[in-house]
Amino acid sequence: MNVHFDKPVLKDIFLTVKKGEFVSIVGKSGVGKSTLLHVLAGIHKGDGSLRTPSKVGFAFQNHSLFPWMTVNENLSFGLDEYQDNEVQEWVKLLELEGKENHYPMQLSGGQQQRVALGRALATNPALLLLDEPFSSLDTHTRQRMQEWMMDFIQKIDTTTVLVTHDVEEAILLSDRVLVMKDGTLEKEFVVPFARPRNADIRYSEPFQKLKKEIFASY
Ligand SMILES: Nc1ncnc2c1ncn2[C@@H]1O[C@H](COP(=O)(O)OP(=O)(O)O)[C@@H](O)[C@H]1O
Ligand SMILES: [Mg+2]
Repeated sequence: MNVHFDKPVLKDIFLTVKKGEFVSIVGKSGVGKSTLLHVLAGIHKGDGSLRTPSKVGFAFQNHSLFPWMTVNENLSFGLDEYQDNEVQEWVKLLELEGKENHYPMQLSGGQQQRVALGRALATNPALLLLDEPFSSLDTHTRQRMQEWMMDFIQKIDTTTVLVTHDVEEAILLSDRVLVMKDGTLEKEFVVPFARPRNADIRYSEPFQKLKKEIFASY
């Protein structure tokens, strides 16, 4: 896959993601990470062949919730029919009980982010695309969201491509971490930690070693 704007942005991208796999793409800003997600989402068209499932869900950095809709309404948006018990299940899974009738501005950043994730997932997409979903959160909230996401991905059955500039986040959540550099996927790291994972693995020596290796290839 190649993508040009006024200059080549994605060059010779070859990416295969297995069903159920969680893959992260890391790299410096401006290397083409978001462009790649946009291509996967069908927002940009590139030169090359692309095979994605028909149902793709995405949640991007500025979690675009509808401000005039409550949590329940935001979550049920995109569902073919309003299924009350289904929405209730999502509220529970997203740990938003009691917030059903709140508007986005009445929620914390982490809660808003979970609604955005839920909305992307409620339509049951075969492929989930996440572009720096936690980067607008403060460090503490971000860490809590990463831990929440670690548990969450155990409970759902989806294939995910996450773009992040947070290498720890990428390792914690992924089966594979790909480093993007100047529009190409330069390196691949397989994450060897068994699931379910505990967030404390981030303090372990193998984790720190992997983190160092990934940074070295930036
Ligand atoms: N719609 C666009 N038109 C022109 N150039 C773009 C467009 N979107 C992104 N770019 C350029 O493509 C490059 C990669 O951008 P992007 O994919 O957003 O990088 P990243 O997400 O890794 O920070 C940048 O140089 C950016 O300026
Ligand atoms: Mg980006």
